[in-house]
Amino acid sequence: MRSVAVLPDRTSLTRAVADRIVAVAEEAIRERGRFTWALSGGRTPSELYMLLASPEWSKRIDWSRVHFFWGDERCVPPDHRDSNYRMASDTLLSAVHAPPENVHRMRGELEPGEAASRYDRELRQTLEGELRNTFPRLDLVLLGMGADGHTASLFPGSLALTERERAVVATTVLVGGEMGAPASGVLARPGAGANQRLTLTLPMISAARTVVFLVAGADKASRLLDVLSGQHPGPPYPAELVRPEGGAQWFVDRAAHAKVDSGR
Ligand code: 6PG
Repeated sequence: MRSVAVLPDRTSLTRAVADRIVAVAEEAIRERGRFTWALSGGRTPSELYMLLASPEWSKRIDWSRVHFFWGDERCVPPDHRDSNYRMASDTLLSAVHAPPENVHRMRGELEPGEAASRYDRELRQTLEGELRNTFPRLDLVLLGMGADGHTASLFPGSLALTERERAVVATTVLVGGEMGAPASGVLARPGAGANQRLTLTLPMISAARTVVFLVAGADKASRLLDVLSGQHPGPPYPAELVRPEGGAQWFVDRAAHAKVDSGR
């Protein structure tokens, strides 16, 4: 069953998610000797990563046993300002001295279809023997949600939402929309304002032992009401379609939860 924790502000929200991640990591390391974690991109998680890297928190996880993955990535080099890897590296990985062999970066610098196939293989090889419904099973997938209801790089109306075989696909995001298609399909001709992404697919995300959504800010309030209530016109939003065993665990601040509180 899905859970929703509402925290008064961004600081308490970040600490609550950090606590949850520490708990999931401790259990994974105790039971399986390692913690496999797909990081989220975007702005919100950077505060979380910096908190986990702080002296107060960093000693609570044995970082030598953590395998870092990504839920999505822009098709840019790893030192690009838009790179999710770069954001995580700058805020967390460098500080905790993550062993390079445990950092499984999506290769945004490669041709998108090749990068998606390569990452699919890397997930299956690294997580060999840990499968759920034929998908490699991560211990934790950390996700955000956009004001349009997207999560990872799964955008409303995207063909990537229909993928049921692959763990990773390439997709194209257009400003104000998305015309992506699985890598084997014909990618939408990237026009002005288009950018190509790599993303875990819904069945790959939903195979995880734990899925945590981190959502903050009043700009998410309308969509959060739609997603948590399921009461809205049109098809389900991508964030609604993430359905891990036991339900996703939502951590939101009061500003994002305001319309749920007020009923609309
Ligand atoms: C990304 C993320 C994306 C993000 C949402 C919310 O690569 O940008 O995967 O899905 O989580 O856009 O971003 P914020 O938390 O910064 O609002």
